[in-house]
Amino acid sequence: MEKIPAHIAIIMDGNGRWAEAQGKERYEGHIEGVASVKACIKAARKSGVRYLTLYAFSTENWGRPQAEVDALMQLFCQSVTKETPELVEQGVRVRFIGRRDRFSEEVRERLLHIERSTAEGDKLTLVLAFDYSSRDELVRATRSVAEKVERGELKAEQIDDKLISAHLDTADMPDPDLVIRTSGECRLSNFMLWQASYAEMYFPQIMWPDFREEAFAKALAVYAERNRRYGLL
Ligand code: IPE
Ligand code: IPE
Ligand code: MG
Repeated sequence: MEKIPAHIAIIMDGNGRWAEAQGKERYEGHIEGVASVKACIKAARKSGVRYLTLYAFSTENWGRPQAEVDALMQLFCQSVTKETPELVEQGVRVRFIGRRDRFSEEVRERLLHIERSTAEGDKLTLVLAFDYSSRDELVRATRSVAEKVERGELKAEQIDDKLISAHLDTADMPDPDLVIRTSGECRLSNFMLWQASYAEMYFPQIMWPDFREEAFAKALAVYAERNRRYGLL
């Protein structure tokens, strides 16, 4: 029987290099990347994957040139507005992980709108990591645990693995079974450091704009061949 991961998390990398290789501007790579997002949502839903997390913008990405940051924010607003009806139709529920406090009013409103309009989706949960980094998430979680201890709502000895997981942005989501990073880079770049403790890693040599149905199917096949041991024999 084919083993299907319940949760796939993807670090969508290589848009800029894809564009460069075609003699195009970087932002054209990001636009082409949106088509890969759509293809992967469809493929995930069809193959029975329950959670698909996409790393769309890291806390570090704010440090890119302002024009690129603006282009990414604009592309985000346009794409979610355009795609929301189809996501609703496909039964896709959208959730965001990461910070909310640094976006413009417009972006913040889009986030709330898409979460509200897709709340009933029960086929696939699409998790968008947007102004997300794992260390930032862990710092925020640690603060909120410490505040509970300070207020006397929690004792230090009650802090365990489960409690920490419950204070992360991913609370009530299963950990990723498979983490994919496109573009051939073999690093996590501050992504799901806690949650990916026992995830299978896959680093295909393909740029994100080229990662479509076929590449998704290949990733599932690679995963099905893996032998997960969790430290046991
Ligand atoms: C990934 O592609 C998209 C984001 C990080 C927002 P890049 O923009 O990092 O493309 P490369 O890695 O420079 O090719
Ligand atoms: C990671 O890609 C972040 C996203 C895909 C959103 P980067 O391109 O920002 O990561 P580095 O700089 O290569 O580590
Ligand atoms: Mg990159």
